[in-house]
Amino acid sequence: MLPNSVSGKLFARANKVLVEGVSSASRGALNYTPYPPYIRAGEGAFLSDVDGNRYLDWMMSFGALPMGHSHPEIVEVIQREASRGTHFATALEVEVEVAEKLVSMLPTADKVRFANTGTEACMAAFRMARALTGRSKIVKFEGHYHGWYDAVLLNSNPQPPLSLGHRNDPIRIPDSSGLTPGSLQDTIVVPWNDEEALRRVMDTAGRQVACVVTEGIMTNMGVIAPKPGYLNFVEKICRDYGALFYLDETVTGFRVGAAGCAELYSLTPDIITYGKALGQGFPIAAITGPERIMEALEWGKVLHYGTHNAPRLGLFACKAMLYAMTKDGNAGFQHLHDIGVAMADAIRGVVAAQSKHKVIVQGVGSLFQFYFTDCNAIGDYRDFCAFADRAKFRRFANSLLQHGVYISPSNALHNLSSLAHTEQHVATTAEAFSRALHELD
Ligand SMILES: Cc1ncc(COP(=O)(O)O)c(C=O)c1O
Repeated sequence: MLPNSVSGKLFARANKVLVEGVSSASRGALNYTPYPPYIRAGEGAFLSDVDGNRYLDWMMSFGALPMGHSHPEIVEVIQREASRGTHFATALEVEVEVAEKLVSMLPTADKVRFANTGTEACMAAFRMARALTGRSKIVKFEGHYHGWYDAVLLNSNPQPPLSLGHRNDPIRIPDSSGLTPGSLQDTIVVPWNDEEALRRVMDTAGRQVACVVTEGIMTNMGVIAPKPGYLNFVEKICRDYGALFYLDETVTGFRVGAAGCAELYSLTPDIITYGKALGQGFPIAAITGPERIMEALEWGKVLHYGTHNAPRLGLFACKAMLYAMTKDGNAGFQHLHDIGVAMADAIRGVVAAQSKHKVIVQGVGSLFQFYFTDCNAIGDYRDFCAFADRAKFRRFANSLLQHGVYISPSNALHNLSSLAHTEQHVATTAEAFSRALHELD
């Protein structure tokens, strides 16, 4: 990027008034070299920045845009509804309509509670699990992220390239300073995709565990699929020990099919939380479950309040998204799946046609990621930390920007398709990918 670009100048100003120049670390110089492009507009599958550059976008707002940017149906409904009022913090007809639609789509949801962000929904879910079971402990997995709630900030951040030791040796790496020992003392961290590791923990502490929480697909170390039957094992062992099985579908919900990973892997979780795609660009999240679980929230027994809960405009966007995606027998979800799989295959094709760099591609439906690594697969957090060359990935992603393709330069994140992506976009991206790979040292 040119030193005198408008983005460069904005970043210099931003650094004087914003911490690291941004409002969430991954948007700044941590990932973008030497500074992020400042995005002015999004249209369909494209972003354009303040310097007039255009990018084919595969980050899609960290997965929050299943319909792509400024979809005409969303623009129309938001313009109309904004002119009637932004937020009332009262009971709303659209709130009932969206909850009814969700209950009709999600087999385990008898009821819905709307929140604003994935983090908030997760926080409420943990409190519900503790209240319902009368137990304190939470089991979470290495490399899984459930928002920035203190109790789950262990082993979620990628560590510097190193071996973290044998999987039988537990590691507890706090993701943040400022956490009290008390906030972490009831959190047990276990390697994922490893039945024996979970069995050992549950055999020892299972009767004190309120819930085991898992992402359906590991999406915060790139994209790592569960081993066949693994999540069913997690569910079963929860039942054996009377712990709740909590599936965090913040990333996978309304992304890998109409009923997410629960449907994809035949799961019956006690609690599911959603965020990101649910709001089609607006902050809206949801906690769902059967009546026996959701009643924990009744009359404030488990406290969950919020001025912005069930945000009005977000609900209208959500309603439009749900109807658009489920039209014609879930054709929208099928499109996301087909384009995601096509893009992953196209990258595999590009990689196979060259021998300069060893790259592997992993994906599930709409979600895909690639790794510069000598391994044949990245199977969990420890693999990611030890074997994925994240610095090279970052250089490559920044160079892809110069070729008009936008992916997050963080290898720990992931890329996604949307309704706006086409086979032509897949081909264009593959060409850019090939050129950038050729230029990479
Ligand atoms: C699996 C998962 N859960 C929860 C969250 C937190 O969501 P939010 O960023 O909306 O607070 C994220 C965010 O990336 C996530 O990936």
